[in-house]
Amino acid sequence: MTSPTSHMFPPYPQADRQRHQAALTQAVQRVFESGSYILGGEVKAFEREFAAHLGAKHVVGLASGTDAIEVMLRAHEIGVGDKVAAPAHAPSAVAAGVRRSGAEVVFADIDSETFTLCPESLDAVLRSPKGRGVKAVLAVHLYGHPVDWRNLKHVANEHGAILLEDCAQAHGASWHGRAVGTLGRAAAFSFYPTKNLAAIGDAGAVVTDDDELAVRLRQLRVYGWKTRFNSEIPGVNSRLDELQAAVLRVKLGALTESVHQRRRLAAEYDSRLGGSAVVKPPVVRGGCEHACHQYVVRSSRRDELLAHLLRAGVPAAVHYQLPLHRQAAFGSNVSLVESERAAAEVISLPLHPYLSEAALDAVCDAIETF
Ligand SMILES: Cc1ncc(COP(=O)(O)O)c(C=O)c1O
Repeated sequence: MTSPTSHMFPPYPQADRQRHQAALTQAVQRVFESGSYILGGEVKAFEREFAAHLGAKHVVGLASGTDAIEVMLRAHEIGVGDKVAAPAHAPSAVAAGVRRSGAEVVFADIDSETFTLCPESLDAVLRSPKGRGVKAVLAVHLYGHPVDWRNLKHVANEHGAILLEDCAQAHGASWHGRAVGTLGRAAAFSFYPTKNLAAIGDAGAVVTDDDELAVRLRQLRVYGWKTRFNSEIPGVNSRLDELQAAVLRVKLGALTESVHQRRRLAAEYDSRLGGSAVVKPPVVRGGCEHACHQYVVRSSRRDELLAHLLRAGVPAAVHYQLPLHRQAAFGSNVSLVESERAAAEVISLPLHPYLSEAALDAVCDAIETF
């Protein structure tokens, strides 16, 4: 029996920084000395390198993942008076990004196995008066699990809506051999410091293969400029800065290996918790490679279990306690059973590439003593 200790659970942002310390120091120094701090060579190089990593044509670096959702929608001329469908079990950033575009967000339920947008629920919502006329569907690869792309695409097509990806939690995931971020016409990424590919501040991007869309995205991030000081379309200020791009270039080189390590640790959890009477481990749908951003189990006694784990020194967490449709800022008067059940049952166990097997053992031991 291993007892958890705080040094077993180094916070991911610091551990990731330490792992890359020497290269990061060099990269940051290079930016300081360059004298170019906004939309310079580092951003261009990161955009090129991340595009090559994904097998995509264009990456447009932005200031955050929330901005990426907003700018991606605006690039599709979605705004005031339009509707966008999104899953109700997701971080607030999803709804906030949609609302920032000016569009209304319409919520659909999730699938009980994978926590991702449920095609049947989406279909029902798009047929309802509330969902009629939805222009885009934001498919969130939640916790790193790829959405049910084929079935969502079928539903979106049937209703004339465009299917867009939110890959903020899914760097390194793939669906039937295709990297997430390259499945639809455009995808939003976040590089917030806790993400699989993490900056040391806010950062995001939109990925697309569409040349015209890429031009619009680049215009939108700098005031809608066609040429300097000449705004052709109403834009914003949302630029990935040079320091963050330089940091991301360093960490991109280790992304594949770090996602593999996440998967190895998740497999350890699976084998230890497979027969647990206390928690139900996550399920990975066939054809999907999970990015293992979070390892999320269910428990019918979630709150008691969470208190027990925290008391035992295990930094477990809940993502997310309140579905988006129940939040005052986005509320809508609907009942979404699976999103509400997930909000009451989910618990994220510690998972990142710098955790040891002893740390995982300590988590599983603490669960067994519940
Ligand atoms: C699924 C999802 N979408 C969007 C975002 C927004 O990203 P950011 O925090 O970089 O604005 C996040 C991150 O919090 C996220 O997890």
